Amino acid sequence: MKKFKIRKASMLAGIATVVIALSLAFQQNKEWKAPDSAKDKKNPITSDDASIAAGKKIYEKDCINCHGKKGKGDGKDAANQDVTVADLTSSKVQSQTDGEIFWKVSEGRKPMPSNKKDHSDEQLWQTVNYLRTLGKSVKK
Ligand code: HEC
Repeated sequence: MKKFKIRKASMLAGIATVVIALSLAFQQNKEWKAPDSAKDKKNPITSDDASIAAGKKIYEKDCINCHGKKGKGDGKDAANQDVTVADLTSSKVQSQTDGEIFWKVSEGRKPMPSNKKDHSDEQLWQTVNYLRTLGKSVKK
């Protein structure tokens, strides 16, 4: 009876390991979706020269090493990440609402760091305004 219990426990542990491994593998390529509540959040910061310049400064300090100068996902640290660094100029990113992009930049997702602790909401919206200009510089 005791032996049976041990076998059962190790079998359960085995199953759990497989499930965890599979979900981690799946997570790698899982699409990153902002929640619906983020989608409709309105950008309160007008996209003008001042806010774009402020966003560019933040980008060059905190994002460029991964996302690259033009946002193509080819910064100097990009190759060292286990997850492909997103191309911010792509229509996949640019088709999202300001609210969705704001949420992602704010929350981060490993290996991308969260930015909400060391940036104000205003700074994050300025970064969104700058990211929009990266989308525009790409020839379709
Ligand atoms: C350590 C590298 C790294 C840094 C630094 C970084 N990112 Fe990222 N970023 C990533 C990776 C990797 C992904 C893809 C994450 C995923 O799909 O799970 C990503 C995804 C994103 C996305 C979502 C793209 C999509 O597919 O919807 C946005 C927007 C973004 N980053 C903006 C920024 C901004 C703005 C900054 C700076 C404030 C920044 N990132 C800093 C690595 C980084």
